[in-house]
Amino acid sequence: MDREVLKSEIKRLRSERNAVIMAHYYQIREIQEIADFVGDSLDLAQQAAKTDADVIVLCGVHFMAETAKIISPNKKVLIPDAGAGCSLAESCPAGEFEAFIKAHPDHTVISYVNTSAAVKALSDLVVTSSNALQIINSLPQDEKIIFGPDRNLGNYIKSLSGRDMLIWDGACHVHEQFSLQKILELKKQHPQAEIISHPECKQDLLKVSDFIGSTSAQVAYVQKAEAGEFIVATECGVLFEMSRKCPGKLFIPAPPDDDSKACNECTFMRMHNLEKLYRCLRDEQPEVLVEEQLRRQALRSIQRMLNISANLK
Ligand code: 13P
Ligand code: SF4
Repeated sequence: MDREVLKSEIKRLRSERNAVIMAHYYQIREIQEIADFVGDSLDLAQQAAKTDADVIVLCGVHFMAETAKIISPNKKVLIPDAGAGCSLAESCPAGEFEAFIKAHPDHTVISYVNTSAAVKALSDLVVTSSNALQIINSLPQDEKIIFGPDRNLGNYIKSLSGRDMLIWDGACHVHEQFSLQKILELKKQHPQAEIISHPECKQDLLKVSDFIGSTSAQVAYVQKAEAGEFIVATECGVLFEMSRKCPGKLFIPAPPDDDSKACNECTFMRMHNLEKLYRCLRDEQPEVLVEEQLRRQALRSIQRMLNISANLK
């Protein structure tokens, strides 16, 4: 189908189904352009809680669509490609995480939103990279914490908060692959450029970064920063929104170790495209479903995050 016809068919089906298209910043440009809403993990969860659409099409990875379904069980939640997983969520199987929790019974269990519903159901509280530090700082100082699954985000929060944290040994395949050496070489070529990184990056990269934050925090930062050039260490889809918001500034994707790639893409996020989005709206599938008892258990920790986050603002 011709691109323009495809886009107008997506728009027609969206209004026919009273659907909302939500996209994460790591989506391909065409999806970000057609989406009703683009944001980070926290933004997407908050939007899912307040939308009055009948159908949510979540152009992101599976845990994001699953979180939307947990929050809004009466809405139909669709994902253009059901195979869009997350290497970080997969690094934390629920059975092993449960055994870890049982071995440390006096700990509050905090899980990053990049987890399965089963892991969220085992957790006391969910956080995203946008609110992890604020939420952990809002807990009593002596509270012992289990944090999973991202070791880089966990260690970063631990170093800033000084909290007693046991950290699961998981990581994201995208954020662990940036080359510090190549980034420092780039910095020599662009001495005025600021290095901005996602907290899922390794500690050595975080140490040389001028700004560390979630995708939304990064987009907000580049708009208000005085600098005109940035080396961006996160999935390079976010550069689209940065360039859209700041047309006069230069955004350079941080290079990965792999010499065959100019920037780091998340294989899972990139599984969606306009054709799949069209078919998903047309056929109303793949649909994301969560078994009711599991949904209720997982909702507690997500709802607690949404409540705390609302009060933090
Ligand atoms: P954000 O919450 O910053 O969008 O991060 C989501 C993610 O998957 C990072 O890899
Ligand atoms: Fe998961 Fe990493 Fe992809 Fe984010 S970039 S969705 S953490 S695999």
